[in-house]
Amino acid sequence: RRVLVLNGPNLGRLGSREPDVYGRQDLSELRTRLAEVAAADVEIDLRQTDDEAELIGWLHAAVDAGEPVILNPAAFTHYSYALRDACALITKAGLALVEVHISNPAARETFRHTSVVSAVATGTIAGFGFDSYVLALRGSDWPTRPS
Ligand code: DQA
Repeated sequence: RRVLVLNGPNLGRLGSREPDVYGRQDLSELRTRLAEVAAADVEIDLRQTDDEAELIGWLHAAVDAGEPVILNPAAFTHYSYALRDACALITKAGLALVEVHISNPAARETFRHTSVVSAVATGTIAGFGFDSYVLALRGSDWPTRPS
C-alpha cells in the first residue's frame, strides 16, 4: 500500500529555512528516513508544493485511490478552509489523515495556535522535528490497523 506524505508551502526550503526552528535536514533526507522506517509493504510518496490548488488536487486523488495521507499543511494550516474541506473528504472516506508539524505551533506566535485542519484530521502530531512524520506513519493506517 502507498502512504502520501504531502507538504505545503515553504517546506521545500527545509535545510536552510529557519534551521533553529526546523532543523538542518531537507525533504530528501526526510524521504530517505521514512522509506527506512516504513513497513516492507508500504511505499512512501513524499511531495511538496507551494500551490494550494495542487495540494487540494492531490487530496482529491487520494480519496479516489483510497490512500491515507500524512499532511504538513504548513502556513495553510492556519487559514485555508479550502484545504480543510479537502481534508474532510479524506477522513469522511474512512481514510487516515494525519496532520503533522515539525515545530510545535502552540508554543509559537498566536496566529499559529489555530489549525483549521485539526478538527477534520484523524489526529495531529507536532513538535518532534522529523520524528513527527515517523510517528504519523505509525498512525497512518488508523483505524484499520490490526491490533
Ligand atoms: C509548520 C508550522 C507552521 O506554522 C508553519 O507555517 C510551517 C511549518 C511546521 O511544520 O512546524 O510552514 O507546519
